[in-house]
Amino acid sequence: MEKKTFYITTPIYYPSDKLHIGHTYCTVATDAFARYKRLRGYDVMFLTGTDEHGQKIEEKAKQAGVTPQEFVDRIVTGENGILDLWKLMNISNDRFIRTTDDYHVKSIQRIFRKMYDNGDIYKGAYKGKYCTPCESFWTESQLVDGKCPDCGRDVHDAEEEAYFFRLSKYAKPVQELLESGEFLEPASRVNEMINNFIKPGLEDLCVSRTSFSWGVPVDFDEGHVVYVWVDALSNYITALGYLNDKYDDYSKYWPAVHIVGKEIVRFHSIIWPAMLMSMGEPVPKKVYGHGWLIIDGGKVSKSKENKSANVIDPYILADFFGVDALRFFLLRTFPFGSDGNFSNELLISTINTDLANDLGNLVSRTTAMVEKYFGGKLIAEREADAIDDELIALIRGTAENYAREMDAFQPHLALEHIFKLIQRANKYIDETMPWALAKDEAKKARLASVMYNLLEALRVSLIMLLPFMPESCAKAFEQIGAAAEATVWEKAGEYGVLAADVNVHKGETLFPRIDAAKMLEELAKASAKPEAPKAPPVLPDVTIDEFAKCDMRVCKVISCEAVKKSDKLLKFQLDDGSGTPRQILSGIHKFYEPEDLVGKTVVAILNLPPRKMMGQMSNGMLLSAVREVEGKEELHLMILDDSVPAGAQLC
Ligand code: ME8
Repeated sequence: MEKKTFYITTPIYYPSDKLHIGHTYCTVATDAFARYKRLRGYDVMFLTGTDEHGQKIEEKAKQAGVTPQEFVDRIVTGENGILDLWKLMNISNDRFIRTTDDYHVKSIQRIFRKMYDNGDIYKGAYKGKYCTPCESFWTESQLVDGKCPDCGRDVHDAEEEAYFFRLSKYAKPVQELLESGEFLEPASRVNEMINNFIKPGLEDLCVSRTSFSWGVPVDFDEGHVVYVWVDALSNYITALGYLNDKYDDYSKYWPAVHIVGKEIVRFHSIIWPAMLMSMGEPVPKKVYGHGWLIIDGGKVSKSKENKSANVIDPYILADFFGVDALRFFLLRTFPFGSDGNFSNELLISTINTDLANDLGNLVSRTTAMVEKYFGGKLIAEREADAIDDELIALIRGTAENYAREMDAFQPHLALEHIFKLIQRANKYIDETMPWALAKDEAKKARLASVMYNLLEALRVSLIMLLPFMPESCAKAFEQIGAAAEATVWEKAGEYGVLAADVNVHKGETLFPRIDAAKMLEELAKASAKPEAPKAPPVLPDVTIDEFAKCDMRVCKVISCEAVKKSDKLLKFQLDDGSGTPRQILSGIHKFYEPEDLVGKTVVAILNLPPRKMMGQMSNGMLLSAVREVEGKEELHLMILDDSVPAGAQLC
């Protein structure tokens, strides 16, 4: 029989900076769902990727002095980049899409044209409030205290010729979709969408830009690039081969379950279904909007101003606590649909309580006792007791409860069921007192029964923990002597599966207890930003007369162009107040584009001896502030207020 398919996705993240623990949270959760479905026998397609176009990336690349493609390559494929992070976190994605991939770009052009051809995209002029970091236009009524409702930063008036998508046309079917059953979860988000976006009236959506070029070009109107959200949302189908030849999986896997953060539920549950309706394609199976990880009351975020304090580096956390412990903590602690307060203290106490005490102890006590009392190999004789019944009922019944919660995308509740069983098993040790049974040779069969029940409790718990901690579970299976056929989902709700003469050995401690105070101190050290290199020492004194010999003047930039065959030099014509333009060459092209400097008020030293560079004369030098930051030279041209007149002398 053909397997049932299951398609699940994470958001495609912006490679504008390194990813943090918030992105890791979403990807780890999606990975656990994908692994769970595989365990249940589904043919799973798990997609993640990166959203690489847009003005924000273009600006960041410019600041870094590289092309946008170089910039995103470094963050996605570079050392300790996004691909490395998912490998480290043991993410089992089947595919990774980058919106700069050729096949995706071609598909986007075809998708845009498809919606245009069927009359859902038209040309108009856009006026609105634009938030550059979020790449979102907002209406006045959507602003919160005049600021961007997503990130709280300033917005500015913007107007440009643009294409529009007839979102308004789809208000009714989208509302019906939102109100139908379980399309959008948690249910609280449905009202939020209807009250905040549908009821006030869905406006048509601006879907092209002319103000920047780092995007997918509209192939029938030069100068327009496709709005990033159309480009980004479509990744979920282009990655399956929709309107491209790269893959042929669309009909097999679509529609998907989209796991996204709550701030982008609007895009996924309103705009995306409307786009799909326009294309005549099925809408997603589900959108689940998870909560945010919060630190000190604010969302963990890469674009926050108080960056250094608020970015939690998953590399550091995985290094200190182990990948599985970190994965477990994220999904055990925070109810998936709600916000959760992240702290290192909470991380440590969860590891100590659940992993070191409850699970780790159960594994190490059980395996140690089987080794000690039976030399690692259980005898076949058994003697049951009524005291076993409750534990055996939990061994049989937990999988059903667990599955219900996993199917509802509630990993913290699924884990709660597993830990009830683990805690019950630990209590069973205290109740049955194996060390007392061991003293009496006549109680050997009873002791074997107790040990077997503990091993069975562990076996089913570990099957259910597999999606969360795949590596640790594999090691623990080995320690309790569970053969591969005893570790499959079908055996997670059965008792009596392990062989009678199972072979057990106590292995490494899976989750060592953490000394909280020591760990917090070490973490603080590792997370501290390296001290900025000291500024160079002050040079020896000069007299005021010597200083006065330097003729430094305010100049206005009349024109500026790149010097041919030089990747560094810019050629300036300056108004220095004398009435005759002055030509100065400056090696700052790496930091500035010539067109951005025209009209600026700058400072130049005029009485340096004229110098020839690349065959052209330079009569002076522009002043800049230069500093090395994190091993890279940063340069800021001295740019003054426009009110300062040309020719004014610096003294
Ligand atoms: O929005 N807590 O990308 P992005 C929990 N490119 N999750 C968090 C989080 C936090 N503090 N911070 C981020 C984009 N996330 C678009 C998506 S999809 C077609 C395009 C997670 O890099 C959360 O899942 O800003 C959120 O939705 C996502 O990262 C946003 O990542």
